[in-house]
Amino acid sequence: MTGHNSRFLKACRGEEVDCTPVWFMRQAGRYMEEYRKLRQDHTLLEICANPELAQEVTLQPMRRFDLDAAIIFADILLPLKSMGVDFDFTKGEGPKIRQPIRSPQDVAQLHVGDPEEDLRSVFEAIGLVSSSLDSEKALIGFAGAPFTVASYMIEGSYSRNFLHTKLMMYTHPAAWQKLMGTIVEVTVRYLSAQIEAGAQVIQLFDSWVGCLDPEDYRQYVLPYSKEIFDRLQTFSVPLIHFGTGTATFLDLMNQAGPTVMGVDWKTSMSKVSDGFEGDVPIQGNLDPLALLAPRDCLEKKVDRVLEDAKGCPSHIFNLGHGILPQTPVENVEAVVTWVHDRTRR
Ligand code: CP3
Repeated sequence: MTGHNSRFLKACRGEEVDCTPVWFMRQAGRYMEEYRKLRQDHTLLEICANPELAQEVTLQPMRRFDLDAAIIFADILLPLKSMGVDFDFTKGEGPKIRQPIRSPQDVAQLHVGDPEEDLRSVFEAIGLVSSSLDSEKALIGFAGAPFTVASYMIEGSYSRNFLHTKLMMYTHPAAWQKLMGTIVEVTVRYLSAQIEAGAQVIQLFDSWVGCLDPEDYRQYVLPYSKEIFDRLQTFSVPLIHFGTGTATFLDLMNQAGPTVMGVDWKTSMSKVSDGFEGDVPIQGNLDPLALLAPRDCLEKKVDRVLEDAKGCPSHIFNLGHGILPQTPVENVEAVVTWVHDRTRR
């Protein structure tokens, strides 16, 4: 059974730790042979819908590496099901929404559904992982943040310039408000049920919000992300807020009210943390591509992250974004060992 005093949870709370905890965003996935093998027989959505398979994939990186936290295997698009939006994952192209939400009429058709029932397999998977995980390890639950989820619903797939998303924001502010409100409602219920099932930490992924300027973030996004964090406060679990390309408005993202701020690799963690009011633990921020570099280069980059982290009140080692499918597993293993060994107090 997962414990409440793991190294990872302590670092999230800003408490003393014996060494810096480490995990990797997207740590379960195609760079691992075990995952590729399982994917030959099951689609991504089949794995997500089957609690035993989701448990297995969640635990694959935990068996191979001395990671301090497991992240439940799921996807940020799963809650779309609870809003009546149909989607799939196409080979090599990523997510595809069957009928993207493009007009106020489309938004009016959305509903909040029954997330506790529609997403039951995720909660069951969390229950299974929670009871099989070592007490020194933490279990992370997650969801996409409202902007990133809305951008998939509107664009229909990953977008370069988020044209339809921004036009919805600017042209139909009332529809935007309704869309974001619907996503908030489903997300709060989804994450609450994850915590009740055993998730000890929650990360909100705002992967694509860096396409906005600070003023747009403040006006069109902050109130909704803030509402999610506010409503999850009752659970007293650490909440991590992560985005990429958000260096110009990390202070606003912090105002949404997370416990821990995630930082991408283009930003200095110590500088960011200096700018925050109070002691905010920081998660980050090795360039995921560094894991593909020659050993000496990788080692230098890891050391630089650890050096930068000395200027933060508390540090959780991670990448600045998700691990890439081309990543050699030996490098992942080496980084976990380095981080633990070099930060041992
Ligand atoms: O971290 C983990 O190990 C848990 C699993 C996880 C997945 N998706 C499984 C997955 C997590 C945390 C996510 C989050 C997610 N999904 C995000 C936020 C994180 C980020 O990277 O910014 C986003 C934007 C998505 C949407 C999504 N799902 C995309 C863009 C893709 C295609 C990406 C690609 O590399 O092809 C997916 C598919 C997906 N979700 C895969 C995995 C392991 C791809 C592998 C496969 O097809 O088997």
